[in-house]
Amino acid sequence: MSNSPKVTYLSEYTAPSFLVPDVNLGFNINNDSTTVTSVQHIIRDGDKKSSLVLNGYELELISIAIDDKKLDSSEYLIKDNLLTINNVPDDFSLEVVTKLYPEKNKSLEGLYKSGNILCTQNEAEGFRRITYFMDRPDVMSVYTTTITASKTEYPVLLSNGNLVESNDIDGGRHTVTFLDPFPKPCYLFALVAGDLAQVADSFKTASGRVVKIAFYVDKGNEHRVPYALESLKRAMKWDEDKYGLECDLENYAVVAVDAFNAGAMENKGLNIFNSKYVLAEPESATDDDYQGIEGVIGHEYFHNWTGNRVTCRDWFQLTLKEGLTVFRDQEFSADMTSRAVKRISDVQELRECQFPEDAGPMSHPIRPESYIEIDNFYTATVYNKGAEVIRMIHTLIGADLFRAGIEKYFELYDGKAVTTDDFIYAMELASQRDLTQFKNWYCQSGTPKCIVTTEYKPNSKELKLTVKQQLEHFADGTEKKPFHFPLKMALLDQDGTEIPVELPDSGDCFLSPVLEVTEPEQTFMFTDIETEPIVSLLRDFSAPVRMEYEYSQDELLFLLKYDKNEFARYDASQKLLTNYFVDLVYQMRERQDYAPTTPILEVLGEILENKELDSAFVAKLLTPPTLNAIVDQMDVCNYREAYRARKFFIQSFAQYHETKLLGIYNRLKSNKYSNSFPEMAKRALKNKCLSFLGELDERYIELIYKQFKDADNMTDTISSLTILCNTQSDEKIEALDSFYKKWKNDSLVINKWFTVQASSDDKNILDTIKELEQVEAFDKQNPNKIRALYGAFSRNFLHFHREDGAGYELLAKKIVEIDLFNPSIAARLSGAFEKYPVLGEEQKKLMRKQLEFIENSASISPALYEIVSKTLCD
Ligand code: BES
Ligand code: ZN
Repeated sequence: MSNSPKVTYLSEYTAPSFLVPDVNLGFNINNDSTTVTSVQHIIRDGDKKSSLVLNGYELELISIAIDDKKLDSSEYLIKDNLLTINNVPDDFSLEVVTKLYPEKNKSLEGLYKSGNILCTQNEAEGFRRITYFMDRPDVMSVYTTTITASKTEYPVLLSNGNLVESNDIDGGRHTVTFLDPFPKPCYLFALVAGDLAQVADSFKTASGRVVKIAFYVDKGNEHRVPYALESLKRAMKWDEDKYGLECDLENYAVVAVDAFNAGAMENKGLNIFNSKYVLAEPESATDDDYQGIEGVIGHEYFHNWTGNRVTCRDWFQLTLKEGLTVFRDQEFSADMTSRAVKRISDVQELRECQFPEDAGPMSHPIRPESYIEIDNFYTATVYNKGAEVIRMIHTLIGADLFRAGIEKYFELYDGKAVTTDDFIYAMELASQRDLTQFKNWYCQSGTPKCIVTTEYKPNSKELKLTVKQQLEHFADGTEKKPFHFPLKMALLDQDGTEIPVELPDSGDCFLSPVLEVTEPEQTFMFTDIETEPIVSLLRDFSAPVRMEYEYSQDELLFLLKYDKNEFARYDASQKLLTNYFVDLVYQMRERQDYAPTTPILEVLGEILENKELDSAFVAKLLTPPTLNAIVDQMDVCNYREAYRARKFFIQSFAQYHETKLLGIYNRLKSNKYSNSFPEMAKRALKNKCLSFLGELDERYIELIYKQFKDADNMTDTISSLTILCNTQSDEKIEALDSFYKKWKNDSLVINKWFTVQASSDDKNILDTIKELEQVEAFDKQNPNKIRALYGAFSRNFLHFHREDGAGYELLAKKIVEIDLFNPSIAARLSGAFEKYPVLGEEQKKLMRKQLEFIENSASISPALYEIVSKTLCD
């Protein structure tokens, strides 16, 4: 980049100099353009001398007027995406007219077209693509919106709030006016125009008000709405029961669109969703899709309080709404399904996405200190680690005081734009606890590493447990401060029974106490312990840390068998297998003979057959650590080696337990389909068994292909297709062909066809990807398609990290192409290069070449530049 992009710093925050209590927006929608007339009521709220400075991006300005008097071009200045007007009055009306070309807008920010639907996406900074405005979340206004459009092309016209007027006008056009009584920042503004089908329902709140619910989808998709609709009603009920929070709206609308950069958006009263998170029927949606829908529907609904009623002061506070709302959606899903399995899934996601991010070139605290492009900070760190930080508060102060803290938060800040410090303050008031040290979680990046040691003294019957925080250093060399975190644990006797222990400060006895770690090195003494116990640590993953303890293999096997805490059992299985895989990798390098470890196979075999366990939990226990988890523990990050070790184990397991796997598969295969959680759980186990059987040469291809042909639901279809894609068989080709024929006109379902192929082990995958880009169903500008093909490939670590560098080259080329029309998606894809600093020398050189290729591309966007330049710095 010739001139380096502007960096925004948290430390430079200043309050706005003007208030904008009311905004009137008029959208005149025409064939290839839309004219926007915005009238802002602006009141000075600071220094008399301040000029009015508004954001604007790629806008065609038609006119500006103050108090009905047009300004001529000498009366304002437009430079660097800012409009400055000097000497404005203290209280005035500003009219700005702009002309937009939504059809040409492929960034999918601001006003754009998804198919024939006109819609908006304004978070974080999209509103500046609509009109000149103080595009920042601490400017809150009441919006009145009038939309005028052709009645045949756009029979449905929507904006936030309540419909207050609607008229037919000349020329086959109609006009509607919406008023949203809740003051809101502009990022929550939304508009939709289209020829949409409506699926309507209602929800009666605890206090007896009726909320009208309407889902808007492409015609013909109405039958795919019920699951999302029911999920929304469950979410509304859950928030009432759990936090006493009622829906404050008269109308709650959800619109599904196919072209969307993210998953969904919580615009006040008018959520806009990626259709992936709305539309589902058994034939088209997998069990994961159903759970995704419930989670995202819940998430956007919960934002209505945590995000909309109380919003963020500035974008550095993003985790205030996102971390808290992810925590809320996780708890909602846990209550709807299985708490233990949901917790395991959430930790899997954290470790797979957030840990590498926090160890990589883009590492940042959950409240970042600076950014070039805020879009780059909608990250696993801000979201998922942010949710873990909220969860720790919940664990430290307990559910009741946490709820009191949430009540305090709304009592203090309803209708305001606030900071994460404000949130902590509410929690402190409610719990009467000092959370000063806890706040280190907000300003220190990196996954803390803790070393735990124990010492048992048989004579005094004491166990001493020491926790040592290995503190990293900031860039300037100063040491990071110790973290305050809950360490949930237990001491187990020889048959797995939890030994009651007394906590020093409380004097109470606990089976599974929560220790509070605050010191760099801290010792906990447990007395009256008759025999040397086995320690169960970090139960429920009570803190987002890497906890190291020298477990023997026998201790891990013991925990896997007997621990009462499901998460701890899962974690024991992961530790056991990761240790084993890393040993295998080293043995393979030395060309030593290696053998499967019978004790691990035996214990996992017992679990496989244990009918008392939840099937979804069994499926989790039988999922070996991911390639990322393995390379993380290796001396040099090498995905091929990790893949070989993992593959060797999976095949050994399949051989060792073939009969059992087949037996369980046959027992579960005739279950009738339902999308209830217990049935999903059984399908998860059934398909897990099938995937192991798929590793046994070609012997089970027929069985797998039979499941593919007979399946009456997408979970069974995709599970079998995924396995077939890892074989070289006629059945693979036939299955892929028939899937394409059946679904090629279904934009959502066909994404799965791209993903299974881009994720496969097949060594010809690069050619396959080039062929897939050419098929009719591919759309190279649609984010879902881009994610389905290139996103999936970038997570196919075996092939993305190929030793000839061709994987890096393919992705880099695509990123540069995509950056020309959608920088936000390009920047996100470039996160795939985050392993750059830890790769072996050769791989690193190959990746460097591609990173430099991207960095030197002629018109690189600031968003992509931020990620790539930071990656190359490492
Ligand atoms: N507020 C976000 C939507 C958003 C995402 C705006 C990225 C701007 C940039 C929304 O609430 C959200 O977080 N959506 C998530 C899904 C959620 C379940 C974590 C998403 O879109 O991925
Ligand atoms: Zn969100």
